[in-house]
Amino acid sequence: MTLPDAPVGIFDSGVGGLSVLRHIQAQLPHEHLLYLADTGFAPYGDKPEPVVVERVLAIGDFLLAQGAKALVVACNTATVAAVRELRTAHPGLPIVGVEPGLKPAASLSRTGKVGVLATERTLNGAKFLQLRDQIHLDSGAEFLLQPCVGLADQIEFGELDSTATGAMLQRFIHPLLAQGADTLVLGCTHYPLVRASIERLLNDAGRSDVMLVDTGDAVARQLARLLAAGGLLRAAHASPALLSGYTSASATALGAAFRSLLGIEPPVHEVTIAAPNGWSNGRQI
Ligand code: DGL
Repeated sequence: MTLPDAPVGIFDSGVGGLSVLRHIQAQLPHEHLLYLADTGFAPYGDKPEPVVVERVLAIGDFLLAQGAKALVVACNTATVAAVRELRTAHPGLPIVGVEPGLKPAASLSRTGKVGVLATERTLNGAKFLQLRDQIHLDSGAEFLLQPCVGLADQIEFGELDSTATGAMLQRFIHPLLAQGADTLVLGCTHYPLVRASIERLLNDAGRSDVMLVDTGDAVARQLARLLAAGGLLRAAHASPALLSGYTSASATALGAAFRSLLGIEPPVHEVTIAAPNGWSNGRQI
């Protein structure tokens, strides 16, 4: 296989990265893709940073062993914690991370108040806090940080539209509206999967003017740029592009997520990735 024919490796702690994968498929329809859902070790958002770093490096090694020519860290938590270490471990490899869209949000906002929905780990990460401070300095925008504990789990359980998820969204979003936010950043790749529920909530609150910012599209564009710059784009006339799923938990569950969220049925394989020292199945031992 020549390098342009090699796949792009994409991963997240679970199904959240599918919200990024759909943009990559739309913009780069000729690329072979590997998608790894690290559901057996999820969520990342409540784990110590060094543990997330070690896990991300292990997943990078796994995807490269499958022949990946580039990596997409389709997870804000993993990007904030570990993209620097991943780049250091693989100099020269195209690596695209996902960061909460503070910059586009600051330019969209009319009130200058932007709510940021993300995991605790993302919002506490040094890389995220530097970004927030820089954009605050540049734009004057005020960022209201809202850790959404448990929301990614609800989405993993397929509860996109349940009463419990609706109540959680209300608890996280209403205080941001009360403080004047007119723009909300979906700072976790799981959250675009409940965009319809968020829009309904805003509508019910008489706030359908509130803008939602998701960076999946920008990530796919950046990947396209890096592949083009490296001479790594797969030819349009080549055989059809293939997608393979990998999961550190149940293949049936990831298969069901592909079906219900994207309407596709790629092959899915269960894989074992050695856990960081002192951890098993996403729990400390
Ligand atoms: N999808 C991940 C993100 O973008 C987070 C979910 C988790 O806590 O594992 O941050």
